[in-house]
Amino acid sequence: MAHLGHHRRESGLIPSMLAHSHELQSNTLIVVLGASGDLAKKKTFPALFGLYREGFLPNDLHIVGYARTKMDKEEFHKREVSYIKNPANDEEVTKKIEAFQSISTYFAGAYDKDEDFQGLEKHLQEIESQYPTEERNRIFYFALPPSVFLDVAKGLKKNNYSERGVNRIIVEKPFGKDLESSRQMMVTLKKEWQEDETFRIDHYLGKEMVKNMLVLRFANIAFSAAWDKNSISNVQITFKEPFGTEGRGGYFDEFGIIRDIQQNHLLQVLTILTMERPVSFSAEDIRDEKVKVLRAIPPVEQKDVLLGQYVSANGKPGYLDDDTVPKGSVCPTFAALTLWINNPRWEGVPFILKAGKALNEAKVEVRIQYKDVTSGIFRDIARNELVIRIQPSEAVYIKMNVKTPGLVTRAMPSEMDLTYKRRFTDTKIPEAYEALILDAFKGDHSNFVRDDELDAAWKIFTPILHWIEGKKGPSPRPSPYPYGSRGPNELENFITGYGYKRVETGYVWPITNVANL
Ligand code: BG6
Repeated sequence: MAHLGHHRRESGLIPSMLAHSHELQSNTLIVVLGASGDLAKKKTFPALFGLYREGFLPNDLHIVGYARTKMDKEEFHKREVSYIKNPANDEEVTKKIEAFQSISTYFAGAYDKDEDFQGLEKHLQEIESQYPTEERNRIFYFALPPSVFLDVAKGLKKNNYSERGVNRIIVEKPFGKDLESSRQMMVTLKKEWQEDETFRIDHYLGKEMVKNMLVLRFANIAFSAAWDKNSISNVQITFKEPFGTEGRGGYFDEFGIIRDIQQNHLLQVLTILTMERPVSFSAEDIRDEKVKVLRAIPPVEQKDVLLGQYVSANGKPGYLDDDTVPKGSVCPTFAALTLWINNPRWEGVPFILKAGKALNEAKVEVRIQYKDVTSGIFRDIARNELVIRIQPSEAVYIKMNVKTPGLVTRAMPSEMDLTYKRRFTDTKIPEAYEALILDAFKGDHSNFVRDDELDAAWKIFTPILHWIEGKKGPSPRPSPYPYGSRGPNELENFITGYGYKRVETGYVWPITNVANL
C-alpha cells in the first residue's frame, strides 16, 4: 500500500505521525450503509474513488453498498460514480472508474431487520471466501440519518461482526442534540462498539489547512512565541456559505446553524488553534490536549450571542419561504458567538465564532488579530493579523506594516502572503473525506473526535441551545438579514465590541498604488 507523503524527501519528518500498528493492508472490505443517499453519493464514494485511483486503498478492497432502496448492480454502479468528475473524458480515468465499479456490489435491506443483516452477512462471506488467508477485516461506514443510527449499530454488531479480524465503524454527526441526548447515544453505542473501533468524523479535521495548523503552530517558533494573550487581542473563526437551506430545511430547522457548524466544525478549529503542545502527535496525546482546552471554556453566555435569519432579497427566497421549513420558525441561520478560555495562556482573549448561510460569499477562515504596538511612536497604525484561509484557495498570510516605499516616512499595511496554488505547483490537495477515510484504514484516530471531546463540546453549547429553543422562556428572535448580505446589521458592532479594529486606509490586496497615498 502506498502512503500519503511517501516521497523522496527525508527531512521534515514527524515520527509520531508515521507509526500505525493497525493499518489494514489486505483481506478488507468496506460496507457503506445508506449507499443510496446524498452523503454517500456526493462524498463517500468520490473519496473512496480518489483513494482507489491513487493506489492508497488495501489492494484487494471490496466495497459493498447497503440501503433500503431496491436496485440492481447496474443502477448502483451508475449512482456510485455519479459525482465522480471526469470532465475531459480522460480514457485513463474512465478505465479507473470501471475498475472501481468492478470492486463494488450492492445489497438492499432494512436498517432494523436481523434477517436483512444476515442476508448481507452471506453476501460478505461470499466475497471473503476468495481471501488467501483466514483474516477478515471489515469497515462499516454510516452514511445514515440519525433516526436509524443506533438500529444499524446494533444490527451490524449482532450479525456482521468479524471474529477473525479488525472491525471499525465510521460515523458522522449529529451525535445527539444536546449534552443529555449525546450521552444517551454514546452509552447505547458503547454497549456494541468499543471506543477504539469507533471513528467519529468531523470532516473539518480532514481539511488540509486544519491539519496544517499543528505544523504551523508547533514547528515555527516565530509563531509559537507570540501565541497568547500577551500578543493577541482577538480571534475570529468564520464560516460563510452563499446559499440557503434550499430544500434541506426540514433537517436544518431541527438543528440550526450552531449545531450544524459551530458546535463541531468551528469548535474543532478553535481547539487545535488554542491547545497546548501535545507530548507527541499520536492520537491520544493530541486528543488529551484538545479535551483539556475544551474543559477550560465555560458555557457560552446569552450576552455573547448574536443570532440572524435570512430573508428574501435579490430574487432569492428567505428561510421561511423554503417549503421544508416550519411556518414562523425562529431557527437561526446565522450566529456569532464569543467563547472565552479560562487558562493562563488565553484568559481575556475573545474567540468569536461566526457562521451563516445565504451570505455574500463562500469562505472559511481564521483571523488572529494582534494587539496594538506600544503607543508613542506611531499614530493610527494597523494591527498585525495572521489569516489562515481554510477554503476556498488555501492560504496563510500576515498583515503587517512596512515603510511606504520611496522618499516617504510613513508606515503602511502590506502582507506576507503564502497562497498555496501560487507557492506549491503540481500538488493536489486531497478532499477532507479522502484524508479521513485513509486514516480510518490506517487505524489513526488523531483526526477523529473522542467521546470525552464530544462531551466537553456539548457542555459549552447546551445552555444557549436550550435558551434558543425556548426551554428557558420565550425563544430569542433572530435579526433578519437579506439573502446574499454580510449578515445582520448588528454584526459590526458585535465584533468591534470585543476589541476587533478594522483599519482599511490604503490597504488593497493584492496591489497598492502608492502614488496616491
Ligand atoms: C456540513 C453541514 O457538516 O458541512 C452543512 O451540515 C455544510 O450544512 C457543510 O454545508 C460544509 O462543509 P464544507 O466542507 O463545504 O465546508
